[in-house]
Amino acid sequence: MKNIAILCSGGDVSGMNPSLKHFVEYSLQNNLNPYFVHDGFEGLIDNKIYKASHQHVAGIINRGGTIIGSARSKRFMLKEFREVAKKNLDALNIDMLIVLGGDGSFRGMDIFYKEHGVKFCGVPSTIDNDISGTEYCLGVDTALNVIKDSIDNIRDTASSFSRAFVIETMGRECGYLALVSALTCGAELCLIPEVVYDLSEYEKRFKEQIKNGRRYFIAVVSEGIKEDSKEIALWFEEKIGVESRVTVLGHTQRGGNPTTYDRLMAYKFVNYAIDGLLNDKVNSVICYAKKGFEYKSIDEVANTKYQLDSELLKYLKRF
Ligand code: F6P
Repeated sequence: MKNIAILCSGGDVSGMNPSLKHFVEYSLQNNLNPYFVHDGFEGLIDNKIYKASHQHVAGIINRGGTIIGSARSKRFMLKEFREVAKKNLDALNIDMLIVLGGDGSFRGMDIFYKEHGVKFCGVPSTIDNDISGTEYCLGVDTALNVIKDSIDNIRDTASSFSRAFVIETMGRECGYLALVSALTCGAELCLIPEVVYDLSEYEKRFKEQIKNGRRYFIAVVSEGIKEDSKEIALWFEEKIGVESRVTVLGHTQRGGNPTTYDRLMAYKFVNYAIDGLLNDKVNSVICYAKKGFEYKSIDEVANTKYQLDSELLKYLKRF
């Protein structure tokens, strides 16, 4: 039997635990011995590599975070520590590794593969949704739902006062979380790092809205914008004339019960990762793309029977 390991690197996401559960189950199904590396690349260097079994993953599918821990490893950037990591993997005869993480982690793994030939597959996992080549990263849907719940709650209090609420989302340099949340939570203002804005352009419109009866504002801003959220709140007070409050959602966005979508994506990502490694995709990242909208004739829509997705049906075999 061959040995395969998995580790989590960088910011954790809700969806990692469902991935770990499926990793163990699907590895065993494929006659592979599954191993967990605790605490990311740090654990690879410190030899925290343990055999995994069904017992370890029982009851974790509904939990956020990761039971094997994650880390941002500076040491793995250094050749000498990658050599230690390779020795640790060799001692256990592991030559396949799945990494749940972001592009920084994948870059590190790419170097590791080129130096030592450790076969690897990356599963894009970050709430920031900022990995090029994939339209979806694990954890994003859960983060969006956490943000939605928070904004909906804030709306309750906002509507009871005449105030502006500035809500800051995570995302580093990527405005995805802020933009999707603003669109789906009915915000009046959305500021993201990718788009240049001029606050003065909103002044006339917002003042007019107040004259016409608007009582409160919801502004969703991404952490990567040029101003501090407090400055946006001050702008509401000084230029628009409404009392304001700031809510930084912070790490609440990284936790929580993984949504159905993230659990399903975890399942699919891990399936593809293991299948790829077993079929000579030895240095890759599983990327996801969905087709956009398209117009179809009524005839085609109304007279064709809906077919359950063939990929989903394939997964049915496990039951
Ligand atoms: O990359 C995920 C992320 O949550 C970012 O959105 C955020 O800027 C950063 O990690 C926070 O990092 P840390 O958990 O190390 O404070």
